[in-house]
Amino acid sequence: MCAETGGQGLERARDLLRRSQAAVAFTGAGVSTASGVPDFRSPGGLWSRYQPVPIQEFVRSEEARRRYWEYKRESYAAFAAARPNPAHYTLSRLEADGRLLAVITQNIDGLHQEAGSGRVLELHGTNRRVVCLECHRREPAEGVQRRLEEGCLLPECPHCGGMLKADTVSFGQALPPDVLREAFALATSCDLMLALGSSLLVQPAASIPLAAADAGVPVVVVNREPTPLDRRAAVVLHGEVEEVLPEMAADVA
Ligand code: APR
Repeated sequence: MCAETGGQGLERARDLLRRSQAAVAFTGAGVSTASGVPDFRSPGGLWSRYQPVPIQEFVRSEEARRRYWEYKRESYAAFAAARPNPAHYTLSRLEADGRLLAVITQNIDGLHQEAGSGRVLELHGTNRRVVCLECHRREPAEGVQRRLEEGCLLPECPHCGGMLKADTVSFGQALPPDVLREAFALATSCDLMLALGSSLLVQPAASIPLAAADAGVPVVVVNREPTPLDRRAAVVLHGEVEEVLPEMAADVA
């Protein structure tokens, strides 16, 4: 499929959105960079400054857990200060207008929900909660952040003393199977897939918009740089998603 790009692409994307009654959005970190949340693989992104701690290392090594919580403590202020941007609000409006069924997101910042999106599938969990790896109790992240700022280096579960971790999916952890199942069902039954602000390099998440393309669903990719899905897309728009998406959706609803 020869993707349309540029001005012609924007018009084509608008037309696809206008005709859609059951669109689905798949989002990555690029949707939140305009809100001040760094992405992972852009120059200066998170993975250039911080080594992710795989779950096996987290459980096995106290030093790895200290490093993990040190990063969480340091990055909390920027994370808590982030507010939704026009990309989040556009998706929320498209859902309110009955045109968008759901947002499937890799992001852990909760900004889609804060912008008013009601059906949000969090493939990689959320940084707004912590979970005990022993008793599985969950609580808002604010409490643990306070303990970290008071000098606690290794927060443990107040109920059972077990290891606490952000309620996110770390490398080596499985994605929540029910969320993954629902995401694939949506991707293969929607009438338009918007793949927004993701490098589409991480599996199994990246297979979700691909499943839409395989099912014959038109895909619109909006991203700063090329992605592996571009060659399967009906439209590829390279640019700032917080500008392109509102422009694409203007006067659609
Ligand atoms: N507008 C458009 N694209 C943007 C913008 C923006 N404002 N800001 C960044 N981008 C693009 C980058 O060029 C990059 O291609 O968004 C993409 C973000 O890619 P990644 O940093 O790889 O983030 P993501 O695709 O969400 O990563 C998926 O990898 O490490 C894991 O769990 C982590 O959920 C994450 C997953």
